[in-house]
Amino acid sequence: MTELSPAHDAAVTDRGRLAGSAYNDDRYLAALQSLYRWQTPRYDLPGMVGKQLSAIRRLVVDVGCGNGKFIKRLRQDRPDLSLLGLDIAAGILADVPGPVAVADASRLPLATASADAALALHMLYHVPDIAQTVKELSRVVTGEGPVIVSTNSERDKAELNDLWVRAAGDVLGVARGPSRISLSARFSLEKAPAFLGKEFSRVETIELPGTITVRDPEPVVAHMASYRAWADLDARLLGIAAAPEVPLVRKRLALLRGDPIEEPKSGTPPGRGWQPRADPNPGFGAHWLQTVVSPPAAKCREQRSPRL
Ligand SMILES: C[S@@+](CC[C@H](N)C(=O)[O-])C[C@H]1O[C@@H](n2cnc3c(N)ncnc32)[C@H](O)[C@@H]1O
Repeated sequence: MTELSPAHDAAVTDRGRLAGSAYNDDRYLAALQSLYRWQTPRYDLPGMVGKQLSAIRRLVVDVGCGNGKFIKRLRQDRPDLSLLGLDIAAGILADVPGPVAVADASRLPLATASADAALALHMLYHVPDIAQTVKELSRVVTGEGPVIVSTNSERDKAELNDLWVRAAGDVLGVARGPSRISLSARFSLEKAPAFLGKEFSRVETIELPGTITVRDPEPVVAHMASYRAWADLDARLLGIAAAPEVPLVRKRLALLRGDPIEEPKSGTPPGRGWQPRADPNPGFGAHWLQTVVSPPAAKCREQRSPRL
């Protein structure tokens, strides 16, 4: 496991960046989500979450609900449930069916044991104090209720990072440039059990390996573009004014597909002239390791013994 720098942690958890740029609407989140349309096998994550909630009868709180992908589906499949969506970013809640509220996962505006289940899907890596937030999730859920958490493996979509590194290398005129920021590394599949195990006596992990295969660069380019909220950090690493990886990634993908390459436009960083190099091993676009591991973290709290 790689050590993460304080600067990395600060960038991934910065509230202004999250609420004001990365998730101020659902444009980037939708691009992140849509890449999985090309995944084999396809996993029906909202359906899997619904199954984990089959015994739940009342309130489910979706913490960091984003654009409401899970709430919308649960509303359809489980009209009997009360659903509450919470997120730190007001903008992304615009199209989420209510009730919704702006709230910070580390200080939930809910009474102790007031929810029957909680979801924290692909969001715990964004909170500054993960251990404290896990405690907070545990606090608001009744003794026997599940807390369902999801995140990515540290091996997740390694090929995309490789593509990014080579595109960054094109800028610097070297084979490999710096990596892109890893959003989920602070709370990866590999790290999650230790965080969750401190609060819950039973943690169940469901691994969802798969392969994403694309035949067109656009879904990948859109995925890369969804990192734009962190582009200033990439630019700083590259020593240039603005991060140009996205257009470079597009060109790299075009090269690998054998498309004609246009000349670089005038935005090419001064003194950093780059020539896209034909890759001797155009294996991209074939297969890469999938993502998500969505561990329903079934929980039983020792201190809630009257209910257990
Ligand atoms: C990657 S998105 C995941 C959205 C949704 N849970 C899903 O799986 O589709 C992360 C979400 O967590 C929200 N978030 C980040 N930090 C948060 C915090 N401290 N409290 C509440 N929400 C937060 C973001 O605004 C964003 O909507």
